[in-house]
Amino acid sequence: MIALQLVLLLYSVSLCGGFLHSNSALTKARNSYSFITTPARSSSSSTFIASTSTNKNPDVIVIGSGIGGLCAANILRHVHKKTVLVLESHYLPGGCAHTFPIKGYEFESGPTILLGCSKPPLNPLRQVLDICGLNVDWISYSSWGVLGDGDEQWDLELGRDASNRPKFDSIIEERSHSPALAKTEFAQLLEKTLPLIVPATEIPAMALRADSKVLFTLLAKHTKSLFKLLQLPDAGTGPFDPYMNGPIHTVTDPWLRSWLDGLAFSLSGLEAARTPASAMSYVLWDLHRDNGSLDYPKGGMKSLVNALVSGLGDDEIRLKSTVASIDIVGNRACGVTLKNGEKLVSNEGVICNAPLWCLRDLLKPAESDSGNGGVKTLLDEIRSVNMTRSYLHLHVGLDAEGIDQSKLKPHYTVWEKGMVGDSEHVCSELNMIAVSNVCNFDDSLEVPEGKIMMHAYACGNEEYGIWEDLSKEEYEALKKERAETLWSAIEKVVPDARERCEVEMIGSPLTHERFLRRPRGTYGAEVESLFQDGSTSVDGLVLCGDGIFPGIGLPSVALSGVSAANSFVGVWKQLQNY
Ligand SMILES: Cc1cc2nc3c(=O)[nH]c(=O)nc-3n(C[C@H](O)[C@H](O)[C@H](O)COP(=O)(O)OP(=O)(O)OC[C@H]3O[C@@H](n4cnc5c(N)ncnc54)[C@H](O)[C@@H]3O)c2cc1C
Ligand SMILES: *[C@@H]1O[C@H](CO)[C@@H](O)[C@H](O)[C@H]1NC(C)=O
Ligand SMILES: *[C@@H]1O[C@H](CO)[C@@H](O)[C@H](O)[C@H]1NC(C)=O
Repeated sequence: MIALQLVLLLYSVSLCGGFLHSNSALTKARNSYSFITTPARSSSSSTFIASTSTNKNPDVIVIGSGIGGLCAANILRHVHKKTVLVLESHYLPGGCAHTFPIKGYEFESGPTILLGCSKPPLNPLRQVLDICGLNVDWISYSSWGVLGDGDEQWDLELGRDASNRPKFDSIIEERSHSPALAKTEFAQLLEKTLPLIVPATEIPAMALRADSKVLFTLLAKHTKSLFKLLQLPDAGTGPFDPYMNGPIHTVTDPWLRSWLDGLAFSLSGLEAARTPASAMSYVLWDLHRDNGSLDYPKGGMKSLVNALVSGLGDDEIRLKSTVASIDIVGNRACGVTLKNGEKLVSNEGVICNAPLWCLRDLLKPAESDSGNGGVKTLLDEIRSVNMTRSYLHLHVGLDAEGIDQSKLKPHYTVWEKGMVGDSEHVCSELNMIAVSNVCNFDDSLEVPEGKIMMHAYACGNEEYGIWEDLSKEEYEALKKERAETLWSAIEKVVPDARERCEVEMIGSPLTHERFLRRPRGTYGAEVESLFQDGSTSVDGLVLCGDGIFPGIGLPSVALSGVSAANSFVGVWKQLQNY
């Protein structure tokens, strides 16, 4: 059980937020993954044929065109040869990863940072593209900027130097007050966490499925890797604490500790000690391995979303189609009803990619139908899921005259209140700000001639509550006030940015909620409350997306998308299909 979560976790690592992000979290609390004792609750419903079905009904309806939903639909269509229908409420596909046009710019609403898309081990997102025959060109890059207080300004160079030492060593040398000790502590940290990442990277996403039968696929095709996983020390499934504070390893250097806290915060929203050891290990390994790099889809996230959409037929995705309810007969999901009243039937079931709190509103608790006990169970499960906080965004379009991009970086992490201190300080509100400057390396992005765009955001630590119930004036004033910190972060990169500004858009948690369709503008579920897999107590209803383990991030949601899709075929068919 631990093994499976570890596989999921390691696959899920993705980058975002301050600089890196993987919310793939692994908590002991949810480690009672009972895939032997619990019978498969949903899925594998290939034997079910709705009595009302006609040949025209899709086999599977997918609610939501987030990256998770698009991956699920593509795997169903290309690998399992099922017919699908994706229903998206927005007029643009992509969910959090959608791109929106304003005054000649194509701004990206969310993710820009990925790893594992251009060189092995390839992450689940790239695996989906490959197995479905979809192409995206990747731009790889290997450094980003760190701007702290005072002289805390440096570039994180990924990869290793000529003598095969992490390039990061020279930063430690410059920054730490006890460089020799810090370098030793860092080298030992990499060494001691290495065993955590090796076996899991051997198992492809296609081996997984959102039900207990995953054990069979792992045993059948990946016995050795499964065995390696099972041999890992128990700490591999727990938090990073034993690697920070002993007994396995102790980091004492204050600068290194602060850096690890910041890195962890952008992975999990928690300090290093509370972040899953496996996620930390994977990121540390990937950043500092030979030729370590980050990846960006050429042309922007739009290219990625377009590639996934192009994998579907014109009649297989419908935009501006809001699902109002999931239709459940007996205890089986057999279609959906749209907001406009239209009823759509699916032959085999429904995959829900909408955030868990949206799903809640799509489930109508049964009044009299005793067969609907599954709905009540699922609603109870959703009720116990805690949300992470929201975002504050600043999108700007700037006149680029005289800006030398070769002196700038594609991404920055800015510490507005400083990097060094205890974890509470490092991770505090409006401290760590991400600045994305993707025009730096991609000249195929949509911006007016001679202009660039930037996106600064406070990631997952903006309170929704302070934005509620304000008058229009109060709301506008609060936007101006709180965006000052984001402006300050951008000015650290381009000092005269305000004079250059020709488009300015401040996005509050309310904006985030509205355009990204995220209740209370949430970043996603708290790591402790993620659904452990996509199976549900309603037959034929399977979930994917960032409320499902391993959580937030494009590779993670691709993984839960693949798992959800695979549970619509039997184990043997799944094994034959990859
Ligand atoms: C600012 C920001 C930066 C980020 N940076 C990164 C990064 O650098 N790297 C990274 O890997 N990740 C990053 N992330 C996280 C990542 O973007 C998300 O975890 C991921 O995109 C979520 O995908 P999803 O498939 O779960 O669903 P979503 O993107 O939430 O999509 C769900 C879809 O369902 C639709 N929907 C909802 N309800 C209904 C309904 N009733 N009917 C029809 N459709 C419905 C919605 O409109 C939406 O399109 C970032 C996120 C944000 C917000
Ligand atoms: C790293 O890149 C160099 C130069 O392109 C190449 O020779 C080397 O094999 C690469 N190393 C790895 C581990 O991919
Ligand atoms: C959700 O938050 C509440 C209050 O902080 C806490 O008691 C509960 O354990 C959390 N739930 C999960 C699943 O972590």
